[in-house]
Amino acid sequence: MEKFVITGGKPLRGEVTISGAKNAAVGILPATILAADICVVENLPDISDVAVSLKILSVLGAQIKMINRNTYEIDTTHLTGTNVPDDLSRQMRASYYFLGALLSRFGKAQVAMPGGCNLGPRPIDQHLKVFSALGAEDSVDYGMITVRAKELNGAHIFFDKVSVGATMNGMLSAVMAKGQTILENCAKEPHVVDLANFLNMCGADVRGAGTDVIKVRGVEKMHGCTYSIIPDQIEAGTFMFAVAAAGGNVLVKNVIPKHLEATTAKLLEVGCQVEEFDDSVRVISDGHLRHTQVTTLPYPGFPTDMQPQMAVLLGIAEGTSTVTESIFENRFKYVDELTRMGADIKVESNIAIISGVKRYTGARVNAPDLRAGAALVIAGLAAEGITVVDDIYYIQRGYEALEEKLTKIGAKIARVEDEKELQKFILKVS
Ligand code: EPZ
Repeated sequence: MEKFVITGGKPLRGEVTISGAKNAAVGILPATILAADICVVENLPDISDVAVSLKILSVLGAQIKMINRNTYEIDTTHLTGTNVPDDLSRQMRASYYFLGALLSRFGKAQVAMPGGCNLGPRPIDQHLKVFSALGAEDSVDYGMITVRAKELNGAHIFFDKVSVGATMNGMLSAVMAKGQTILENCAKEPHVVDLANFLNMCGADVRGAGTDVIKVRGVEKMHGCTYSIIPDQIEAGTFMFAVAAAGGNVLVKNVIPKHLEATTAKLLEVGCQVEEFDDSVRVISDGHLRHTQVTTLPYPGFPTDMQPQMAVLLGIAEGTSTVTESIFENRFKYVDELTRMGADIKVESNIAIISGVKRYTGARVNAPDLRAGAALVIAGLAAEGITVVDDIYYIQRGYEALEEKLTKIGAKIARVEDEKELQKFILKVS
């Protein structure tokens, strides 16, 4: 099993370029099905969730041509299948977008209950609520979700919960329904807007994405387009927090600073300097951090996907901080691992109470999920001594070439295949 091995305590300096947004890519790739034509998708991050999405498209009958590492030409003209294979759909959460896209184009779809990070119960009732309001029937048998409709008709839906996935599936399933669909209490994340922009480039009529009411006027036919995915605000935030924790001065390039406002605000609160430019931000930190409070909220609030990285920062900030998780029930699984590195954190219900320690010390830890895994890498960069992060396949689901990008800004990090390589690295650095 591959692992990261990190020698901590090196300040980060230089420039890093952010890749395309994972959570936009995993919605836009299934959306190419609706075009029934050729789409060229640029700025796709080279991560395993994108590889799985492309594999699913190919199994369904799409013709896929790699133009370069981050650009693919996808021809969905002659799609044949509507069933997403069980083993592929269970590899990632976002396989649920194939339900909306296939239902919209073919009136039927079958996808296994989605997998992805275990953050506690992750129901999909709000997705099914949209499909049903548009006229589809659904059933869940033997772990497979099947949706079917003779015809889809526009409807008025009020989401009971603000959900990124249900909002995006709402748009996917409504774009070719007859008449108008109104989605209320929608998620406003940048990737929701990115999917709407992609759909509109393919001939859809989606208005209001980025606000809590989205109106979709069904069109009869869509077509292909060339589209470039937005930068990943969580990858950007992760690098910004790495600089804050390890100290240093890094220009984070290819970002949309507006998408990073909540993250930037917290960095300023803990005592870092952040300079904003048109499409980049510079983070400067002397490694001395102050305590603060943070609560995760839907966009534009502080993102739950930055919560573990924030806790790692506060773990070495002066004073007592609190982190309140309001989106997922079980997103503190990394706390035990961080405690092994010297953190002093108590979790009470959905609140982590963090008493800052002077420094982390290197230890052997397991990545419990994607963002928590990235957070442990940050802890390793700030720690004294050597940290080994196991189970990094979680991290590879969402970060393109993390170790290469960190190495370029001065981190001592390597990806090793096994124990033998690990010992070699440790010998070399010690
Ligand atoms: C998306 O998950 C992201 N995943 C997650 O990113 C992210 O953490 C999350 O949004 C919140 O921003 C993808 O985009 C693939 P939700 P999603 O539906 O869509 C409840 C990462 O690390 N809910 O917005 O699954 C749900 O339980 C990942 O990149 C229902 O009750 O999240 C949660 O409490 C992890 N019923 C809340 O809503 C539903 O039908 C928000 O979930 C759907 C959701």
